[in-house]
Amino acid sequence: MKVHGKAYRSIWPLEIGKSVGIIDQTRLPHHFVEVELTNLGEAAKSIKDMWVRGAPLIGATAAFGMALEMARDPSDVALSNAWDVLHATRPTAINLRWALDDMRRLLAPLAPERRAEAAWKRALEISETDVACNEAIGQYGLRLIEEIAAHKPDGEPVHILTHCNAGWLATVDWGTATSPIYQAHNKGIKVHVWVDETRPRNQGAGLTAWELGEHGVPHTLVVDNAGGHLMQHALVDMCIVGTDRTTAHGDVCNKIGTYLKALAAHDNEIPFYVALPSSTIDWTVGDGVKEIPIEERDDEEVAWISGETREGDVKKVRICPPETPVSNFAFDVTPSKYVTALITERGVCAASKEGLAALFPEQAMLL
Ligand code: MRU
Repeated sequence: MKVHGKAYRSIWPLEIGKSVGIIDQTRLPHHFVEVELTNLGEAAKSIKDMWVRGAPLIGATAAFGMALEMARDPSDVALSNAWDVLHATRPTAINLRWALDDMRRLLAPLAPERRAEAAWKRALEISETDVACNEAIGQYGLRLIEEIAAHKPDGEPVHILTHCNAGWLATVDWGTATSPIYQAHNKGIKVHVWVDETRPRNQGAGLTAWELGEHGVPHTLVVDNAGGHLMQHALVDMCIVGTDRTTAHGDVCNKIGTYLKALAAHDNEIPFYVALPSSTIDWTVGDGVKEIPIEERDDEEVAWISGETREGDVKKVRICPPETPVSNFAFDVTPSKYVTALITERGVCAASKEGLAALFPEQAMLL
């Protein structure tokens, strides 16, 4: 996608086998800062400290992290250590383990002297595949938007609510939830996006609003608790969100607060779609609520908020008494019964074992 007119991806190769570029997403929306990653430690830190975030981008960054390590030391010990270090960065997004397992499966049987080149090539392929998947998700999701647009009075946009940032910044390009939105907008279909601010880290306010603004997509920022009200007043036509891990039965784990949006959508008979590349499906998990590890993050993220002052300084302020106990669960699970359908790179399917199995029979056979 474009930033100030220049085409960007969220991660890109700089020097073959030696470095990749990323955007430090903790600095957005106030500052657009590019950072170079040159080794395993920097790649792991960029994921852990959320310079990069979003399930598919975490996976792609981990793949490059492993490739950078193979260029330094292609031994079995280094390969195994790289897997461990990167895997320990964040617990919920399954794309991380998916990418690491994919890299290890490819590299482990190779002679060490062949690993660096193969790892770099595979990391590039993982990135390109993510872009292609998200573009396909956009095409399938576009049809859903078009169906709603066909029934709107002339000049009325399709109102879409989204949560967190499942945009191009969360993937290598296009985004998952935003891909249908960008493609609809590019095609001239009128869309308007309700952007949940997404406390505590405000990925909606800081990243989704920024992205949509850069691309010229009409949008409005709302507080996290506004969704139910908007839905009751027929101000939302559909919800589209992303996911960090979807179970083989269609339960969806995504940023904290997604579940409440799904409940409100269900109560108001508004379609609730989840967009995902198949790398986000955890075929080993049945019951999402019981089995998916939910990341618990630092209290500071809840007790303090940061933003730009009128003078243009970025400041952090505490919003509760210093001794207030805080909890910070970063994700929740929406049971499949509240998900209207999943939008994948192979098409749209029911959020169920049967729905997923019909689109991905080769995976379902292994269950
Ligand atoms: O904690 P984050 O910012 O990594 O959480 C991101 C999300 O919850 C996204 O919705 C999800 O990763 C899907 S990204 C296409």
